[in-house]
Amino acid sequence: MDSSAPRQVLVCQHRTCAKDGAAQVLATLQQQNIANVSICGCLGLCGSGPIVVVLPDNIYYWHVTPKKAQAIIEMHLIGNVEIRSMMHPRLHPNN
Ligand code: FES
Repeated sequence: MDSSAPRQVLVCQHRTCAKDGAAQVLATLQQQNIANVSICGCLGLCGSGPIVVVLPDNIYYWHVTPKKAQAIIEMHLIGNVEIRSMMHPRLHPNN
């Protein structure tokens, strides 16, 4: 990735993701200032949320909890290591 551009993190806040705790996931991700965090609408992955997308890496994390959001901050956003075990298996089938 272009190291001069900050990453963008999208957090779905639509219906099923919201029901599954996306507001707390968003709050956790907003506690860092290394990437830009935005709310987004339904990503078509309802039921496997909360969904968090990291761009431009194009990584979709599923079933994200506040604890997993913290791991995304520490490992992916700061450490530049994608977390294979937390990636959505339909979008990242080789993990
Ligand atoms: S409600 Fe989040 S992906 Fe559809």
